[in-house]
Amino acid sequence: MDKKSPIGVFDSGIGGLSVLKQFIRFLPYEHYIYLGDTARVPYGNKSPQTVQEYSKQCVKYLLNHDVKLIVVACNTASSNALDVIKEMSDVPVIGMIIPAVQAALRTTISGKIGVIGTRATISSQSYEKGMLEITNKKVEVISQACPLFVPIVEEGWLRHPATKLIAEEYLEKFKKDTIDTLVLGCTHYPLLSQLISEILPGVMLIDSGEHASVSAIRILGEKGLLSDEKDDYDIRHEIKFVVTDVPSTFFEVASRFLGFEVSQPEKISL
Ligand code: DGL
Repeated sequence: MDKKSPIGVFDSGIGGLSVLKQFIRFLPYEHYIYLGDTARVPYGNKSPQTVQEYSKQCVKYLLNHDVKLIVVACNTASSNALDVIKEMSDVPVIGMIIPAVQAALRTTISGKIGVIGTRATISSQSYEKGMLEITNKKVEVISQACPLFVPIVEEGWLRHPATKLIAEEYLEKFKKDTIDTLVLGCTHYPLLSQLISEILPGVMLIDSGEHASVSAIRILGEKGLLSDEKDDYDIRHEIKFVVTDVPSTFFEVASRFLGFEVSQPEKISL
């Protein structure tokens, strides 16, 4: 494992490509292995035990491929399995919760922070625990599970009237209980940012992938593991896609998340 080793990013499926997109933006000179557990997605309605079991298998695969950092792009896995992942990893691990909590605390003025995520993320109370861990400032966390957002985004219904109705229903409580900051606590939600901002004007949205990328720069920098290939114009970063299934919609959905065409993934069994 050295500076040239890849960063391993894993998610329950394709959604984590929204996180990979931010990593490529902030860390463009790194190589990446992206593992999507597409055969078993979604994790968001599964028990903590199952999410831990699946996450351990994904992490084992990445560790066997000599990664220098593990990014748990899935908020559900970050909420329910981060401790077990850290225990088994001999490389640094970044989850989605703490970087977003830090950003939300920096952003809020009123101290009222909203969090949206899958059912498994919201019921884990990972954000509330994260806030307690890093601040003794008085903050109020108001959370809401938005399970329908995941299939809607995969369907590409980002501006569909039905999506607007569903979003208004889910976000209603944030209008009553006025928040000034909202954590998008799921891989899929950044794709709905525009719609969410229209429903909650003036509320600052926190994109977990963006803040996790900034944490990665710090962690890799401290360990002397940041790629120095930026000085070598012949080397382009490589992204290897690995999945446990290739559904028929894979390429269409993946390019929507990533913003460019995805190369053929390798199909593996965990
Ligand atoms: N990747 C998951 C998350 O960020 C959403 C999809 C799923 O439920 O597996 O929580």
